[in-house]
Amino acid sequence: MRREYTREALTEADVDADPVVQFGRWFEQAEQAGLLEPTAMTLATATPDGRPSARMVLLRGFDERGFCFYTNHESRKGVELAANPRAALVFWWGELERQVRIEGPVAPTSRAESEAYFHSRPSGSQLSAAASPQSRVIQDRAVLERRVAELAMVGRDRTRVALVMDARGGAFTADVSELSAALDQLRAQDINLRVVFLEASDEVLIRRFEATRRRHPVGGEGVAESIALERDLLRELRADADLVVDTSDLNVHELRAKILGAFADEAAGLLITVTSFGFKYGLPLDADMVVDVRFLPNPHWVPELRPLPGTDPAVRDYVLAQDGTGLFMARLEALLEVALPGYVQEGKQYLTVAIGCTGGKHRSVVLAEELAGWLTDKGYRAHVAHRDVERE
Ligand SMILES: Cc1cc2nc3c(=O)[nH]c(=O)nc-3n(C[C@H](O)[C@H](O)[C@H](O)COP(=O)(O)O)c2cc1C
Repeated sequence: MRREYTREALTEADVDADPVVQFGRWFEQAEQAGLLEPTAMTLATATPDGRPSARMVLLRGFDERGFCFYTNHESRKGVELAANPRAALVFWWGELERQVRIEGPVAPTSRAESEAYFHSRPSGSQLSAAASPQSRVIQDRAVLERRVAELAMVGRDRTRVALVMDARGGAFTADVSELSAALDQLRAQDINLRVVFLEASDEVLIRRFEATRRRHPVGGEGVAESIALERDLLRELRADADLVVDTSDLNVHELRAKILGAFADEAAGLLITVTSFGFKYGLPLDADMVVDVRFLPNPHWVPELRPLPGTDPAVRDYVLAQDGTGLFMARLEALLEVALPGYVQEGKQYLTVAIGCTGGKHRSVVLAEELAGWLTDKGYRAHVAHRDVERE
């Protein structure tokens, strides 16, 4: 297939005598044309004995001194340019039917210029740039995680850093004990480390994979088998996690609230989540303690209460007025009065108490609200979540 390039002719009279001025005009047009990445250019370098290599870099500025890009001195291009400081650049602005070729000597920018550029980058990019030796194969992902965490700790104004890992980090899923060892090393350096493990039910994971049409990174026979394999691989990590979050029923906003709730005020210690749920939809996977309140009369059978949620005062009054409710709650509170100081003493950061009724709409909702209120009155950090209240 051949494409005709007929947009514009180029005559000598059209171009400026100064190639940098001419480049400036064309570059402005490329920027205004809304191209995907007008600053992207191919940079070709060569070893002293003439072996060429090329890659994309981004133009960060240009003036009469030349064309500026930034890279790591230890990268392949950095090493080649140090030994043979000549390079060629090519811009290809396809939609404008235009390429620009530049050749010449290369010199490092001043230290002040490159530091100013480095500090202008988002802190995440600074960290990755410093942690990852460009162009070299790193031993494994765990080494990289450790290096990022170490660097994050020496940052001047950085006291917190989040690292995200998932099964796509191949190397660590093959041998998760490497990662556990890396985490232990960080703990040994007195770094206050929390491992948050995100998971979801098989059913929800399968649905998500089907919706995104992505292949499962673990690569078993089918999605279900890959999920089982992945659970197996990550079992040890999950067991050691400080917080396990089941995202099956969370939308992104709820997940955000949960993570914020867990980390907003870490120094304050134990954070208790009281969650209501319906047994008919299954147990919450992240519960530490499960309480069954199906022994109480069910407002579902009271026609005027049936459509109302447990947060409605009419349902609340009904549930609290039942014979067993007061005594049951008093006993539950007494139980927690024994357990909670123990959890705090043991340094537990997160506790999920799950209260279940049949559908998760009435009794469990009322009592979860009651318990969270009692915990707050007692001075604990507690929040309430209703997993199934909106289901029919
Ligand atoms: C669009 C695009 C822009 C890039 N910009 C840069 C850049 O500005 N600096 C850089 O060091 N690498 C950049 N890279 C990555 C390089 O192409 C290359 O993979 C990396 O620098 C290692 O190259 P080397 O091993 O030849 O040194 C970019 C890649 C792409 C696809």
